[in-house]
Amino acid sequence: MKGIVLAGGSGTRLYPLTIPVSKQLLPISDKPMIYYPLSVLMLAGIREILIIGKAADLPQFRTLLGDGSHLGLDLTYVAQPEPRGIAEAFLLGANHIGDDQCALVLGDNIFHGTAFSKLLRDEVRDLRGCTLFGYSVKDPERHGVGVTDEHGKLIDIEEKPSRPHSNRAITGLYLYDNDVVDIAKNLRPSVRGELEITDVNRAYVAAGRAKLIDLGRGFAWLDAGTPEAMLQASQYVRTLEERQGVRIACIEETALRMGYIDAQTCYRLGTSMSGSNYGRYVMDIAEEFGALV
Ligand code: DAU
Repeated sequence: MKGIVLAGGSGTRLYPLTIPVSKQLLPISDKPMIYYPLSVLMLAGIREILIIGKAADLPQFRTLLGDGSHLGLDLTYVAQPEPRGIAEAFLLGANHIGDDQCALVLGDNIFHGTAFSKLLRDEVRDLRGCTLFGYSVKDPERHGVGVTDEHGKLIDIEEKPSRPHSNRAITGLYLYDNDVVDIAKNLRPSVRGELEITDVNRAYVAAGRAKLIDLGRGFAWLDAGTPEAMLQASQYVRTLEERQGVRIACIEETALRMGYIDAQTCYRLGTSMSGSNYGRYVMDIAEEFGALV
């Protein structure tokens, strides 16, 4: 399965912060926002990942992440000239996807919960059609919302409905079979002039090929699209990290635990950042995994 991180958009809800820099490079606690969705794809076992962003932002993404080989990844980059909708990712990413399946994650979405990696790997392995991840929120009208029948089967999805049928938001992580490229090619722009991800998902629902996984109440799903949401996400991450002494979305640690890099490589990555607590954490983890220091 190929991965895409969609990290474009205008970021106007974060102005002036996002005038000179991409939203997805702003910090959530002690690391750039994009580390969170990137680590989700890594946890799913996906190593070939396309990062889509504004042309002006791609050099900074490259400075941060390079070709990904230091993390055992294969990272490539494509510019989205205008924010013409989330589903445009499948047109811009058609070559990258080829005849493979594809996971898309939005660059401002943060997921955290027990056994998430196993859940992701199971869903990737068993994928038929598309798999969506639902999460109960108190403001469903701000999201795509799943409509289910009395057996919990997904029968429709509404995008930002003024009167939501449920409080089950559709989160910004989507797994698709290869049909997604053709579905995206045949989409018409919505009234907002965008290629809507909800229209892609509705095509799968209509074909009876969409599955909705409930992330459950013990799970955290945050999207960091406003200053308030960024601060809340930072506080959440910081609180857990301080309490447990582990880091969320440390991509070097994820690469090590997933077996993409060895302990020595991880240690070296840590030493290049040893001036920060983050870098020292990477070194400590590598040592735990047997790196010679
Ligand atoms: O976060 C989950 C929600 O994401 C879903 O529940 C909705 O169904 C889905 O439409 C989307 O809603 P948003 O209001 O969050 O979409 P937004 O337009 O803010 O775009 C989400 C992210 O994708 C944002 O960080 C910017 C990026 N983006 C968006 C568009 C439209 C792009 O990179 N390019 C784009 O063309």
